[in-house]
Parts: sequence; C-alpha cells; structure tokens
Amino acid sequence: MNSGIVCKALEPFGTTIFTEMNALCSEAGAVNLSQGFPDFEGPDSIKECAAKAILRGPNQYAPSQGIPSLREAISGKVKRFYGVDVDPESEVTVTAGATEAISSALLGLLEPGDEVILFEPCYDLYPPMVARAGARAVYVPLERPGFSLPEGRLKQAFGSKTRLVIINNPLNPLGKVFTREELDFIGKLCTEHNVIALSDEVYEHIVYDGRVHVPLFQVPSLKDRSIVVSSTAKTFSMTGWKVGYSIAPPGLTKAVRMAHQFLTFCTPSALQEAMAMAMAMEDSYFEELARSYTKKRNMLSSALEAIGFQVLWPEGTYYTSISIKGSGFEDDMEFCRYLTREVGVAAIPCSYFWNGRRGGRDLVRFCFCKKDETLEAAIERLERWRS
Ligand SMILES: Cc1ncc(COP(=O)(O)O)c(C=O)c1O
Repeated sequence: MNSGIVCKALEPFGTTIFTEMNALCSEAGAVNLSQGFPDFEGPDSIKECAAKAILRGPNQYAPSQGIPSLREAISGKVKRFYGVDVDPESEVTVTAGATEAISSALLGLLEPGDEVILFEPCYDLYPPMVARAGARAVYVPLERPGFSLPEGRLKQAFGSKTRLVIINNPLNPLGKVFTREELDFIGKLCTEHNVIALSDEVYEHIVYDGRVHVPLFQVPSLKDRSIVVSSTAKTFSMTGWKVGYSIAPPGLTKAVRMAHQFLTFCTPSALQEAMAMAMAMEDSYFEELARSYTKKRNMLSSALEAIGFQVLWPEGTYYTSISIKGSGFEDDMEFCRYLTREVGVAAIPCSYFWNGRRGGRDLVRFCFCKKDETLEAAIERLERWRS
C-alpha cells in the first residue's frame, strides 16, 4: 500500500513488531508481556513535581540542549554511580527519549556511504535510522550459546568506511550485560580504525546477581570517542514521558545537538524539571528498582522453566526469553500469534531483532515490568495451556 509513498530507506522496515503485537494483544484480550512498558506508575513525587511545574509555568520552549538543572542532575548521577566527571554545559544533551538521542547522533554524524556495525540481535530502531542517514549497516551476530562477542568476526567487520559501532548494554531482547573485557576489545578496534562507539544504556540500572554495568565513558580507550545514551523511561517507570539524554565529548555532543535542534528542538520543560529531581533520588531508590525486578525476573523465569521451557535468564533488562525448540512450533512469530490468540499471553518474537529475521526464530521474549498480579495471570494461563 505504501509503495512509492514511504521513502525507500524506511519502507522495507514496515510497522514495528511492538505495534503489531500490542494490536494483536488488545484484539485477543491477552495479558500483555510484549512491549516493554510497566503497568505500574513511577514514584508520585516525580509526578507531583511535574504537575507543580506545569501549574506554575512557564510552559514554553526549554533550551534546546536541556534545562540546566536536569543536565547538572545527569552529570551528578554519572559522578555518583560511575565516578566520572561530565560537563553539563558541553557534554550532556536532553532529548525526547533515548530514541531521539540515538536518531540525532546518527543523523548528526553519518555521511552517505558510511558503514555502521550493529550486533545481532539488535534493537529495531537502529537499522532504519542508519538507513535513513544514508549509511550501510554491517551486522555482526553475537555468538551462541552465550551470545558472546565474536572477536574474529568483529575484527573483520571493521573497514575503511566504518564510522560507528552501536552497542546496546544491557541488551534488549536477551538481557546480556557486556563485560569490561568485551568493551575493551571493542574500544581497541575503534581506536585502531578511528571509529565512534554509541552505546544505548537505557537499562543501566536494571542488572542482576551482583553484575556491574560499565558505561562506555568508563572504558579508557573510548572516553574520547563514545556517545552514551540513556533514558528516564525504564529507570523511573515513566516510558510515556520520553525524557532521554546523551553524554559525549564536546565535539560529538555538537553533532548530536545539531540534529536534535531540527528534530524536536527541545523536550517538555516541566517533565525535565521533574526528572532533575528524580535523578537526585537516594541510592535506595535505585537499589530497590533492581531488587524488585530481580524478584519479578525470578518469578516469571522459574515459572516458564517449570512448565518445560528452556529459559535464557537475563543478566540485565526486564525481559526474559525462552527457546521454543521442541514446542511443536518452528517459527517464533507463529508461536507468538498462537500464544496471544489461544493462550491469552502476548510476547515478542525475537527474530525481529535480526536483519531480515534470519536468526532468532527459536526465541521468544517476555517482559516482566508488570505488577505481580499481571505476571501471576500470565503464568496461570501458560500453566493451564501446558497441562
Ligand atoms: C534498547 C532500547 N533503547 C531505547 C528504547 C527507547 O527508549 P525511550 O523510550 O527513552 O526512547 C528502548 C525501549 O524499549 C529500548 O529497549
């Protein structure tokens, strides 16, 4: 239907799998464990702060790079959790979610003909935006069984046209947390080939079992050539607010801001003010976030295991995945359609995180950023089906 109307770069990507599964889920009245948004609210204190800011005003455009108090709060949080100094004036940019930070970085940096290395599985925003920027995606699949970094293949992927490598850490959909050694290896190649690394770290505060999240600006070889993107969406359970940000050295920040000013110009000022307050919340808030998601991860993953699935327990993020090998289904989309319509639980087929769905057809992702009663209802339906 879109033929000839949608631009050639975007047309092949169609409608995102998240929109498709959400629609299927409402049509079937299923429990929605597909798209990653909480069915509970973030802290009231954040909402009250935004409400007060709206009533008090002004409700006009914010400075394009973000209001000073939020940029300072981001810099303060980075210092508190990672011990790194970032200059709020020249290194922090507030955007409309991580989505816009990533899009701005790609549009602000890439030239037609550049190559961008993407790891598969890869979040579905990156390939279309790389294509729209006129660049070519070079895919490097993470290595099974543990989805580790394929050092040889990665080395081969770097060439004279490589401009950027994108890392998603912790990784959606499989919950991999990149180790310091893996990031050092990527850093070494980026330095050798004069390449920029962009890291999408929206799940930075959701890591499990004592693992430590390593932001790219902590990797010595990448300090001057990395753009770290994060968001308040997952950390404060406010996905609808779309307040995200990028942290990068001044030169790279200039490129991000160049595109950002023409994409959205700025992010709603009242929401920024509330997030400035949220960023300064005590350590206990962040600890409780990880603790509560650990309980939810354990609850859903053990239930899936008990009903006979092989579970890929996540090291981070709020997704857990299963292998559908031996379930009677050959294809993850077919499995998800059946599960939504017949069992009443919606999930995400992981093959949509591979280029052309050429991998991951045996994997299905469930999100567990849900109230316990929602997870219980899903588990009950799955148990009834399997028994
Ligand atoms: C890996 C990843 N990056 C970016 C986003 C989007 O973040 P935001 O809502 O801040 O744009 C998501 C949301 O699910 C995500 O999983």
